[in-house]
Amino acid sequence: MEKRMLGKNGLEVSALGLGCMGFSHAYGAPTEKDEAVRLIRQAVEMGYTFFDTAEIYGTQDNPYDNERLVGEALAPYRDKVQIATKFGIRFDLSSHQVPYPIIPDSRPERIRESVEGSLKRLRTDHIDLYFQHRIDPDTPAEEVAGVMVELMKEGKILHWGISEADEEYLRRADAVCPVAAVENRYSMMARHYEALFPVLEELFVGLVAFSPMANGFLTGKYGKNETFDKKYDYRSNMPQFTAEAVDENRELLALLQETADRKGATSGQISLAWMLCKKPWIVPIPGTRREERLKENAGAAEVKLSAAEVEALDRALDAVPMSEVFGGSKIKK
Ligand SMILES: NC(=O)c1ccc[n+]([C@@H]2O[C@H](COP(=O)([O-])OP(=O)(O)OC[C@H]3O[C@@H](n4cnc5c(N)ncnc54)[C@H](OP(=O)(O)O)[C@@H]3O)[C@@H](O)[C@H]2O)c1
Repeated sequence: MEKRMLGKNGLEVSALGLGCMGFSHAYGAPTEKDEAVRLIRQAVEMGYTFFDTAEIYGTQDNPYDNERLVGEALAPYRDKVQIATKFGIRFDLSSHQVPYPIIPDSRPERIRESVEGSLKRLRTDHIDLYFQHRIDPDTPAEEVAGVMVELMKEGKILHWGISEADEEYLRRADAVCPVAAVENRYSMMARHYEALFPVLEELFVGLVAFSPMANGFLTGKYGKNETFDKKYDYRSNMPQFTAEAVDENRELLALLQETADRKGATSGQISLAWMLCKKPWIVPIPGTRREERLKENAGAAEVKLSAAEVEALDRALDAVPMSEVFGGSKIKK
């Protein structure tokens, strides 16, 4: 797979990364461990070198399971891959909401605890890209960035980034410790962060695009009769998966299918190629638990859309009716 650079200090990653969350978290029953390890290793064989996890991606029984899984799967390839993980939130497990609300906490002492735990679970002595998972309104950007400077000096992290970053926070943080990437929600159904693109370009900050297929919806493979586990599958509460939304998004899915037919690709590949061809510093991290889909998604890097084709898609996306799309877990103040 082709490679891309994130940030001014040049973190090289595969053009598409693998989002590993779904093996443990948010998409129903976790994948059986040996199968998940096999799939992650298959991804390496297919050319993925960039893997995304987080301290808090876990199962009911094992809240830190995803990092352990990723650590085990990637141990034989550690020098050839880049691992991104995240600190700075916990779930409000006392809530009955699905998904659980998030409590941000980036106090320096918490970051220190998190990094040690992540290194251990990931079976490594360094994290390639360490993301603040959500901005903590009680801890200034400068203080968080200051801890990142220290962790870099200690060799525990090589690069850092911010997830769901806004302009003001990003500028303040970047002034203290250069930010390699933001990890923000970005897909054909969630384009609000395009307003941040000039700032990312100015500061040489990459965009790691999470939920790049609108949680799978843009593949066109999910219809009206899908049923998702009410407690463990967040899609049961995502507005794009309701029966009404499938109707509302009919033209959008038709646009994807027509483009896919023209380019000899699939709808899912078009949804990824659209962002890959828009900017050379965007790296989508689709998640999947199926081998054929790993391959399909990696194939998006081969689908070339011209600047005119990307612009035409943007114009069509501006005009086409669309349902609401999931915007993330509630943040508890
Ligand atoms: N920073 C953050 O706050 C944040 C938040 C959310 C996610 N993330 C990261 O971003 C990654 C990706 O985001 P996401 O999982 O929310 O959304 P996504 O990648 O847009 O969608 C994943 C869903 O799409 C399905 N899918 C993937 N490829 C497919 C294909 N070719 N055909 C049909 N269905 C397909 C998957 O199902 P199967 O598994 O059944 O194939 C899964 O249910 C996560 O794994 C996580 O690492 C970060």
